[in-house]
Amino acid sequence: MDVHQAIQIRRSVRAYEDRPINADSYQKLLDALRFAPSACNIQPWRFLLIEDKQLRLKVATAAKKQLWMAQAAVTVVACGYPQDAYKTMGGYGNSVDIDLAIALDHLSLAATAEGLGTCWIGAFDENAVKEILQIPAEAKVVAMMPVGHPKSTNLNHPVSEQNRKKPQDIFHKNCYR
Ligand SMILES: Cc1cc2nc3c(=O)[nH]c(=O)nc-3n(C[C@H](O)[C@H](O)[C@H](O)COP(=O)(O)O)c2cc1C
Repeated sequence: MDVHQAIQIRRSVRAYEDRPINADSYQKLLDALRFAPSACNIQPWRFLLIEDKQLRLKVATAAKKQLWMAQAAVTVVACGYPQDAYKTMGGYGNSVDIDLAIALDHLSLAATAEGLGTCWIGAFDENAVKEILQIPAEAKVVAMMPVGHPKSTNLNHPVSEQNRKKPQDIFHKNCYR
């Protein structure tokens, strides 16, 4: 599967089979995270790979009870270090959220290419997740992502045009106006 196909068929998966990811695919997922770009190549991140079923359930509970997350073989918890990241993007912004988002997007596309499903998880109680997983105070939980075998077969259908804004509404050639 090439990257264009992966982009077309990736979609949020919210039902998983509770079975492990094979070692070859798992390695590709880790590489997708590790080789992602980051501002000044600082790589201000740690990724927790939650494989333990009880911990997956606890984390899903802390994610506003999105318990379906825990069905997936692994929950990736993306932790960023704002104090290490590039702090003056555009003159003022910390790059940590962008750095982590790029890595997670690499992960979701690599997972799609392996026939696996993912879902971005941004709805969670950060303090609760940090306590469950013993994450240091200085780290920020940027987002989470369950990865596993999708229950349904709808992964093979492209994202519907109806679900996205029209090109003429989002692209501007040259200047804004
Ligand atoms: C930053 C971010 C946070 C999200 N948080 C959640 C979440 O907590 N739970 C959930 O079910 N989906 C979550 N989503 C998934 C979006 O709802 C989904 O990507 C969007 O509706 C488009 O659908 P698609 O991913 O199938 O193309 C999140 C997506 C992003 C990018």
